[in-house]
Amino acid sequence: MSKKIYLCDINELQSGTVQKFIADGNEIALARIDNDFYAIGDRCSHANYSLSEGELLVGEKELECWKHGSTFSLISGKPTCLPATKAVPVYDVVVEGDRVMVVTS
Ligand code: FES
Repeated sequence: MSKKIYLCDINELQSGTVQKFIADGNEIALARIDNDFYAIGDRCSHANYSLSEGELLVGEKELECWKHGSTFSLISGKPTCLPATKAVPVYDVVVEGDRVMVVTS
């Protein structure tokens, strides 16, 4: 059964930034681009480093792993370049009023 879990208020995450949260045991990288929020698994599928410590590529809507440079789509969770080959999880984000929530299963 899916759950909506509160992560932060809208104004706690500036556009162009990414932050790590733990929701229901899931490590999540929450990114904001303008007024859109994206949530993907925080652990790189290549070697388990934290994606939220990498660079947010705003124009591409991707998150770059700081360790070896794979980039992951914020939309699909799929890597867009090597060395990672496996997708990371993607989570639906719901904004209700000022509250940003992620949907976990
Ligand atoms: S740990 Fe992320 S690309 Fe290697």
